[in-house]
Amino acid sequence: MSFDSRFFQLAEDELEQRKLRNERILSQREREIETKQPEIYKIHHELGLTSGRLISLILEHDEDFERKLAELETNNELLQKRLSESLVRAGYPADYLDKPCVCRKCGDTGVSEGRRCECFMEIVKKAAAEDINRTSPMSLSDFADFSLSYYDDKQVTPAGCTAREVMSSNLDFCRNYAENFHLPCNGILMRGATGLGKTHLSLSIASEVIKKGYSVIYGSAPDLFRKCEQEHFGREEGNTIDVLLETDLLILDDVGAEFESKFYSAALYNIINNRMNAAKPTIISTNCDLNELVARYGNRTVSRMKTMDDLIFLGSDVRLMRAGNR
Ligand SMILES: Nc1ncnc2c1ncn2[C@@H]1O[C@H](COP(=O)(O)OP(=O)(O)OP(=O)(O)O)[C@@H](O)[C@H]1O
Ligand SMILES: [Mg+2]
Ligand SMILES: [Zn+2]
Repeated sequence: MSFDSRFFQLAEDELEQRKLRNERILSQREREIETKQPEIYKIHHELGLTSGRLISLILEHDEDFERKLAELETNNELLQKRLSESLVRAGYPADYLDKPCVCRKCGDTGVSEGRRCECFMEIVKKAAAEDINRTSPMSLSDFADFSLSYYDDKQVTPAGCTAREVMSSNLDFCRNYAENFHLPCNGILMRGATGLGKTHLSLSIASEVIKKGYSVIYGSAPDLFRKCEQEHFGREEGNTIDVLLETDLLILDDVGAEFESKFYSAALYNIINNRMNAAKPTIISTNCDLNELVARYGNRTVSRMKTMDDLIFLGSDVRLMRAGNR
């Protein structure tokens, strides 16, 4: 896996910002407690002296060291308990005077157990994803703007449902998927004719999942594949393929609309196979049916696609209906 060094720098900067923000919040709270609750502040201050005492103990290291250390620890625990109880009694959260942090694992230092903390790589991945999304002509959409009134509620499909029923269940599925998004989870294959809302629903999922703090890339397969190709043959700088493989959620729109080429079909296999092995979800939308997909990408790719949740889109072209109403 490789990411551009500027995204590492961005992550360093973000952690520095977090550190400053945490310090600012803590000192504001300390000042507040000092004026409003001087008794509580005294306990907090006393606790703050403990680390200094610990250092002197270690430096002295006399024969009483073990006993003094145990005493210091007991005292520390007692103070900690008194502090949190007094805070709660005064109507504050028990940890009000603890240093706040975004990542509990590393306390926003970016290092946990001697290694780079996961939160650091999360920031790198998000920055790299945003960089790719910035050049995408697609923009995020919303479940709230998705109307079922465009879909036929009279004509019954061979399976005995109306288009509106099928689309209502697709909408529910996508809403749930976005709401309960977690890793690892399954990908989605959205299939259907043009203008039925595949892109709209996948970009609504993207928008929710980004709000949850995950890294998401959305782009059309023709655009993303072309970018990978240019970079692969050294015509452009970048490592889009690595970012596509690493991002938490990848939305690959309009698969099958790209120019047919060995390179693209290998790229699709590479992306789907690698992401599945890493249990990272991909949402694919396509106008192709399964036979067309097999003809284009082969059985090995399609058999992997078939393990995704399959959503069939039905109805008449909403794009046209909306254009007609304008
Ligand atoms: N149910 C809906 N309610 C409101 N707007 C919709 C709905 N379905 C689609 N649209 C709008 O219609 C246009 C076409 O929809 P969309 O791009 O999602 O179709 P698609 O299935 O991705 O089509 P294609 O296969 O051509 O890519 C978009 O502007 C989209 O926002
Ligand atoms: Mg589309
Ligand atoms: Zn962390």
